[in-house]
Amino acid sequence: MKIFHNKSELSYLTDKLKSKDSRIGFVPTMGALHKGHLSLVEIGLRENNVVVVSIFVNPTQFDNKEDLKKYPRTLEADVALLETISADKIIVYAPSVEDIYGDNVQSQSFKFDGLEREMEGAFREGHFDGVGTIVKRLFEIIKPDSAYFGKKDFQQLQIIKKLVALYRIPVEVIGCSIYREDDGLAMSSRNARLTEKQREVAPFIYKTLKSAKTKFGTKSAKKVTEWVEEQFSKQPLLELEYFSIADTKTLKPVKRKSTKKTYRAFIAVYAGDIRLIDNIALN
Ligand code: PAF
Repeated sequence: MKIFHNKSELSYLTDKLKSKDSRIGFVPTMGALHKGHLSLVEIGLRENNVVVVSIFVNPTQFDNKEDLKKYPRTLEADVALLETISADKIIVYAPSVEDIYGDNVQSQSFKFDGLEREMEGAFREGHFDGVGTIVKRLFEIIKPDSAYFGKKDFQQLQIIKKLVALYRIPVEVIGCSIYREDDGLAMSSRNARLTEKQREVAPFIYKTLKSAKTKFGTKSAKKVTEWVEEQFSKQPLLELEYFSIADTKTLKPVKRKSTKKTYRAFIAVYAGDIRLIDNIALN
């Protein structure tokens, strides 16, 4: 498998591939790969000649220094996992912070029509400036034809779609289904840090989302939200940070339901110091 640590060398290769009409898929990751990531790579491989997987724990999108420090870094295991899918059609880009940022580890400031202010944006200051900065840079280096993002980070997906529209970046952004453990817990690199007890209760998040979906059929968003808050107040190992029923397009919380709009429920929960997010389509 080809592994690059240097952006110029990778750009040289992807330019060469494009000149030979190869389609390039791209799966951006922060490593600690799991089946959810692999499913994105597999979709990418079906639709492209090669798939570039970036593995980079991007410092500018972390508002919490401890979270950045503790984020799992498992490059060797990640490469071994990717090799189980394909050794010759996957290209890994695992840059250093310097290769991406030089000596200026700062994010650009973005406005994504207000999408950046909701939910994750409200609770993680500067997060989407960091995400926008790294994804834009990676798009410039790799110049992929299509890029694959999981819907677990649905807000991020909507923001990346806005980013490519605003900057006219010629890449198709594709949202892929949330990959779940058998008990419903959304796959996440952070799950590896859960204690046995936390892992046991974590499926409660998706279970509650599914019940919220059923309740939203007959009850108002306010009533469903109150019900969810009550459920989490009875769960000592999980602390609810937010639950929001929002318009899929604007991500603004729903005030009055309309049959013409689509909604999703979004949730962020702490298990100890581990932050887990999930979401579900409601209609
Ligand atoms: O979703 C992630 O893992 C990250 O936010 C991304 C898109 C790789 C940017 O660092």
